[in-house]
Amino acid sequence: MKIAFSGKGGVGKSAIAALLSLAYMEKGYRVLAIDADPSPHLARLLEIRDEIIPLADMKELLAERAEKMGPYYTLNPKIEDLPEKFMKTKEQINLMVLGAIREAGAGCACPEQTVLRRLMGYLILKTQDVVIVDMEAGVEHFGRGTVVPMDVILVITKPYRGSIETSKQILKLAEELKLKKVFIVGNGIRNSQEEELLKKEFGDKIIAMLPEDKDLEKREIEGKGLWDYRGELFKKVAELRDRLLELKN
Ligand SMILES: Nc1ncnc2c1ncn2[C@@H]1O[C@H](COP(=O)(O)OP(=O)(O)O)[C@@H](O)[C@H]1O
Ligand SMILES: [Mg+2]
Repeated sequence: MKIAFSGKGGVGKSAIAALLSLAYMEKGYRVLAIDADPSPHLARLLEIRDEIIPLADMKELLAERAEKMGPYYTLNPKIEDLPEKFMKTKEQINLMVLGAIREAGAGCACPEQTVLRRLMGYLILKTQDVVIVDMEAGVEHFGRGTVVPMDVILVITKPYRGSIETSKQILKLAEELKLKKVFIVGNGIRNSQEEELLKKEFGDKIIAMLPEDKDLEKREIEGKGLWDYRGELFKKVAELRDRLLELKN
């Protein structure tokens, strides 16, 4: 299953993507986590410190291989076939980064988005494999169709107007693209009013409600990642994992 995280900036996409990766690992899954945000955070959250060559650089590699193998060349890699230099592995988690913005004013990330869309389209998963993509904030990846090869889109939503509006825009774009499994994940929920607000706005589109967890803030201040975090929020994310496993493909 290929799962993408979407939503407004600062709503918790990266944090929940990291926790969901850990939750799948806990169940014996092999995870390919892809940080597709030009300002990447997953490596820090998963406490992977080695430098990772951005996936955008794979473009040349793909073109090179295609040239060598002629017009009938098709690329249907499995996770283990992906070039190691683009991936860092920690236990059952494999991390790739799409590519950070290299210089100010360098324009859009279109080529990177194309690499990601192709890779997602081609990649063949075994039953114990899961792909988790932490998308860039906002809606650009819908305009570029990067989300089309994904099986599930999780739209992280905080109970405030700005986040709700971005999420509604995402649901509309997803509908236009005829994407079926698009769900709202409420995050940072502090009380029943906040929960009710999201229920009123999104009804049965909601797949999970995740509480605010002060521990995360503490970890951010201390510069600690989430690798060993198993607090209340993790338990809720593990429930989300179980619901996703029930969906199948
Ligand atoms: N459920 C939560 N409880 C407490 N803090 C959270 C929660 N989810 C996310 N955060 C915090 O909110 C901030 C933004 O989260 P982040 O994952 O970076 O958002 P995004 O990737 O959507 O920009 C981080 O400091 C993160 O630790
Ligand atoms: Mg992020």
